[in-house]
Amino acid sequence: MIAERVDFLVIGSGVAGLRAAFEAAEAGSVYVITKDTLKESSTEYAQGGVAVALCDEDTIGIHFEDTIKAGDGLCIDEAVHTLVNEGPERIMELISWGAEFDKSDSRLIFTLEAAHSRRRILHAHGDSTGREIERVLIKKAMSMPQIKKYSFAYFLDLIVFDGQCYGAYMLRDGQVTAVLAGATILATGGAGQVYSRTTNPQVATGDGMAAAYRAGAEMSDMEFVQFHPTSLYASGAPQFLISEALRGEGAVIRNIHKEKFMGLYHIDAELATRDVVARAIVSEMTRTGSHYVYLDITHLDKEYIKNRFPRIYKTCLKYDIDITTELIPVSPAAHYMMGGVMTDIDGRTNIKGLYAAGEVACTGVHGANRLASNSLLEGLVFGARAGSTAVKEQADLKDINPELALTVTQDHIENPDEIRSTIRRVMWEKVGIIRSAASLHEALDVFTTLSHVTAHTYLTRYENEIKNILQTAQLIVQSAIERKDSIGAHYRSD
Ligand code: SIN
Repeated sequence: MIAERVDFLVIGSGVAGLRAAFEAAEAGSVYVITKDTLKESSTEYAQGGVAVALCDEDTIGIHFEDTIKAGDGLCIDEAVHTLVNEGPERIMELISWGAEFDKSDSRLIFTLEAAHSRRRILHAHGDSTGREIERVLIKKAMSMPQIKKYSFAYFLDLIVFDGQCYGAYMLRDGQVTAVLAGATILATGGAGQVYSRTTNPQVATGDGMAAAYRAGAEMSDMEFVQFHPTSLYASGAPQFLISEALRGEGAVIRNIHKEKFMGLYHIDAELATRDVVARAIVSEMTRTGSHYVYLDITHLDKEYIKNRFPRIYKTCLKYDIDITTELIPVSPAAHYMMGGVMTDIDGRTNIKGLYAAGEVACTGVHGANRLASNSLLEGLVFGARAGSTAVKEQADLKDINPELALTVTQDHIENPDEIRSTIRRVMWEKVGIIRSAASLHEALDVFTTLSHVTAHTYLTRYENEIKNILQTAQLIVQSAIERKDSIGAHYRSD
């Protein structure tokens, strides 16, 4: 097997990974490996914005309180303090690197989203905030020769012996390489593809969570999956995110009879927390026998809508929905993993030499329900912290001589498409917005019949992704079975 050595290995090229890489690059050589193109991550698709207490009417303390309240009592205070305190500095730094957030007369514009008591959401190009952040981070990464970027390099597994991580195996052009590193930072993002309905891109297959679990990492809060209330539901259209920012700007939700209903479910109506809105929509869809509800923003000025939400406007128009004059059919979809690889606020996992940041990690910052638009900030703050901890604690490369042992099968999964589709459908139907002991056990039974899939490492990305989807699904189900009460995004009908 080929082996390469590098001071720091960063796995994933979204906001958390790149931000971590910048810290690491101050102290040594860095590899950033990513399974697709550099920019293909959930960061690229984040629309609404980035929450940060920078507006005159806001304070760090209020941002803290809103985050804690949304998290339904399960946030870890220290993690939330870190997020809201360090957030403004990370954003100002991003602006100094060239990020262009939307402004009016040279002043930043802040919008509102659900469960925020102040206008604190920065956005870019209306509804392409993640894309703008990723643009700036990639540009900076490109200017740093000490960061070597490997696209289409699939992360297979961590190299862990005696509780210490020494890097990872990657698959590139059909060839397995052991990348030995003084410190390894996992920033592989989320796992929305575990569900048949998701706002996430194809790459979000839980690779980091599953591989860390296989290596002995402690996982936390895996039962807390955030379902976004409004993804596009139109024939032939992708499950495209219709940003919460529309509701922040006044959009209302209507059932298929075009009646408003959110006020009947919660005093905050359209701006209640995401878990509440998603469940209200499911109840209303069940009550009216429909697979979708509508989002209505037609009362706003046509030109304003087109300028404020250009990406959503254009995407919907492609599917013959003019959002300035027509109601948008929407339904909830899996959106964000609050749980993941357990870390402290400096990105440390229980495995020495392995750090994690961003959606793959669980610092406890989101508790049982993430406050909207806190995740780009999370990637910046905790990515930087994980990177600088890795710098302080990196092992000397000359001390790294682990035994390399990865067996890759030449065999293939039989009927991979069918298996992938079964897992994702079962997760949506049995482990979705509303769960019960019976539905969770039904899911587990199906997954047990598929356990042969997880017994091997494969030579193709697609098959390894199916294995990771299955293992992540099993982790979610097991945690959901263990948590018998309903809290935040985990709702048990029993
Ligand atoms: C959205 O734009 O609605 C998504 C923002 C987020 O998930 O934080």
